[in-house]
Amino acid sequence: MSPIVKLNKVSKSFGSLNVLQGVSFDVAQGSVVAIIGRSGSGKSTALRCMNGLEKINGGEITVCNHHLHQNVTKAQLRALHLDVGIVFQSYNLFPHLTVGQNIMLAPKWVRKQSKAEAKDLAAEVLGKVGLAEKFDAYPEQLSGGQQQRVAIARSLAMQPKLMLFDEVTSALDPELTGEVLKVMENLAKDGMTMVLVTHEMAFAKGVGDKVIFMHQGKVWEEGDGEILSAPQTPELRQFVGNGL
Ligand SMILES: Nc1ncnc2c1ncn2[C@@H]1O[C@H](COP(=O)(O)OP(=O)(O)OP(=O)(O)O)[C@@H](O)[C@H]1O
Ligand SMILES: [Mg+2]
Repeated sequence: MSPIVKLNKVSKSFGSLNVLQGVSFDVAQGSVVAIIGRSGSGKSTALRCMNGLEKINGGEITVCNHHLHQNVTKAQLRALHLDVGIVFQSYNLFPHLTVGQNIMLAPKWVRKQSKAEAKDLAAEVLGKVGLAEKFDAYPEQLSGGQQQRVAIARSLAMQPKLMLFDEVTSALDPELTGEVLKVMENLAKDGMTMVLVTHEMAFAKGVGDKVIFMHQGKVWEEGDGEILSAPQTPELRQFVGNGL
C-alpha cells in the first residue's frame, strides 16, 4: 500500500538553527506512528511541517496527495487542511460557545454544511469521544480531559484523512490522560491514520505501528514498538532509561 504521508529529506531552519536535518519517513494508510524524543529534538516542528504550519527549507513532504515544498501556496494549504486535522496540548475551545457549537463551527463555515447537518455530525463525533451528553455544556464545565476529547471531536468533525496529535495529554493528570489515550486508541482501531508526538512510552509501544525516535533534528531510530525494548543506539537507550 502506498503511504499516505511521505517525508523525503526534509530540512527546516529557524535562522541559523537547523531544526530538521534531512528527515525521511513514511506513514502507511490506517497506521499509527508515534514520534518520541528529547525536548528540542524537532518533533513538533516535524508535525507542524506536515500540516504546512511551518514552511520547509528543503526536501519534500507529500500528505494525502498534497505536495508541500518551499513554495507552497495558500490555496494548496487550504486544500491540505480539509484532509488533515491537528490537535495540540492546549485545547483552545471558545469559552462562550457550547461544546456542540464549538464542534459545529468548522463544518458550517469551512465545509458549508447546513446547521442540521453540522449538528448531526457534532453529535456523532461527540459520541465517538464518549461525551454525547455534553453537547450543551460549556467548556468551563468540563474537566481538562473532557475538554481535550472535545478538541479531538472538533477535529474529527472535519472528517480528516489524517490526524496529527502533539502531546495532547501532557497537561493532564494521569487519570485524565488515560481517558484521552483510550479515545485515541479507539480512533486507531477505527482505522484512522494518526501521527502523534508523545511522552507516553507505553502508548507508543502498544498502539504505535511504528515508533520514530528523533534526536538532534534527525530520525535516529525507527521501527516497531520493540525498538523501545532493544534500543540500538546509546541515545535511545538513554532516553528510554530515563524512565520515560
Ligand atoms: N518558531 C520558532 N522559531 C525559532 N525556533 C524555534 C521555533 N520553533 C521551534 N524552534 C526551535 O526548534 C527546536 C525544536 O523545537 P520543537 O518544538 O520541534 O522540539 P520538540 O521536539 O517538539 O520539543 P518538546 O518536546 O519540548 O516539545 C528547538 O530548539 C526550538 O527552540
Ligand atoms: Mg514539541
